[in-house]
Amino acid sequence: MGAFALRATIVQAPEPGRFETVPDAVITVEDGWIAAIEAGGGGEVDVTIGAVDGVGSGAVLVPGLVDLHVHAPQFPQLGTGLDLPLERWLFDYTFPLEARFADTAWAIRVWDSLVPALLANGTTTAVYYGTTHVDATTALADACRRHGQRAWVGRVGMDHPEQTPEWYRDATAVDGVAASAASIASIRLLDPVGDLVRPIVTPRFVPACTDELLTGLGELAADTGALVQTHCSESDWEHGHVIDRCGVHDANALDGFGLLAPGTVLAHSVHLDDADRALLVDRGAGVAHCPLSNAYFGNGVFPLRRALEAGVKVGLGTDIAGGPSASLLENAAATVTSSRMLRDGVDIDVSAGERPRPDAAVDAATALWLATLGGAEVLGEPIGLLEPGRRFDAVALRTDRFGTWPEVD
Ligand code: GUN
Ligand code: FE
Repeated sequence: MGAFALRATIVQAPEPGRFETVPDAVITVEDGWIAAIEAGGGGEVDVTIGAVDGVGSGAVLVPGLVDLHVHAPQFPQLGTGLDLPLERWLFDYTFPLEARFADTAWAIRVWDSLVPALLANGTTTAVYYGTTHVDATTALADACRRHGQRAWVGRVGMDHPEQTPEWYRDATAVDGVAASAASIASIRLLDPVGDLVRPIVTPRFVPACTDELLTGLGELAADTGALVQTHCSESDWEHGHVIDRCGVHDANALDGFGLLAPGTVLAHSVHLDDADRALLVDRGAGVAHCPLSNAYFGNGVFPLRRALEAGVKVGLGTDIAGGPSASLLENAAATVTSSRMLRDGVDIDVSAGERPRPDAAVDAATALWLATLGGAEVLGEPIGLLEPGRRFDAVALRTDRFGTWPEVD
């Protein structure tokens, strides 16, 4: 890869609540890693990003966005079908769509549309659910490798005879664990060093999996060293279902199956209590906060500030297609908006005269941090911030795209 230098104005969020701007920085990159950054640096460079000649022109350099939660096969239904609650949405729309990915040629057409679309939205790293099909899921990892997107790609494990349809499930728990093991092996063959694409163990969620499959996938993660992703305490129905079946909250149930570890990505986690948050902190597991999806399925706003103050690792996800947008920046904006609605309450009859949660709001700098470094820290990956010692993983964000600024003398 060699070495090169580029000049750009950096905008990033090194911690929640704080933007950092590095004007006219010269960034030296060696073999994909940032070797040095000099603010206002002089000298020759290989590339200049954006014009640095004044407000409203050109582009700034932002750390690449990290989308912690994407259902790749749901891309064809993005922005549709959100009229049903989660448990009916899965059976009526989503399982039938995912079952089509038995056709690997069709899958590749979807992947070759999805991955460039996410890259165009600034998502340089994505954590994907594939389908139950090993071949389609390997093809997804290959699409990420071909298009140059960093990715964790998981074959979806699901075998529960009551919570999955007979025509879209692993035949047995043993079959499910074997298929996930085969998926890990074939994704690792694509990228033996794990520079760009890696496998991730992916039990869909507790309701869709038998205890035997969840236990087997926990063991598979331990044996292979692969990270884990699943859904946790997403909605009233899902949270209650796990309590009824397991007698404990989702977080505890997942822990009992060996699925909570450093780097585990728990989508949603809207309905966590204090003990759940403490357990996540203890195990090093993180949350993929998906504010747009939560507006449809979550039955409430994720108490983000509480999670951060408890020390839980948090990043952002689009949850394509439970969320109707492929843009992580839109989800960052929705993070701010929904946190303010949580602060003030949403029903004027109930919340008039009171501010239900005065400390719940987060600002735009926190949202950018979540979309970049927060997500990177959930995964334990040296990205998310432009500083020496991390990978050079960045996007140029045009600041003049949405119309021109008024001319000011
Ligand atoms: N829980 C189980 N499967 C899914 C899914 O595909 N999307 C969402 N949002 N939640 C889930
Ligand atoms: Fe999801």
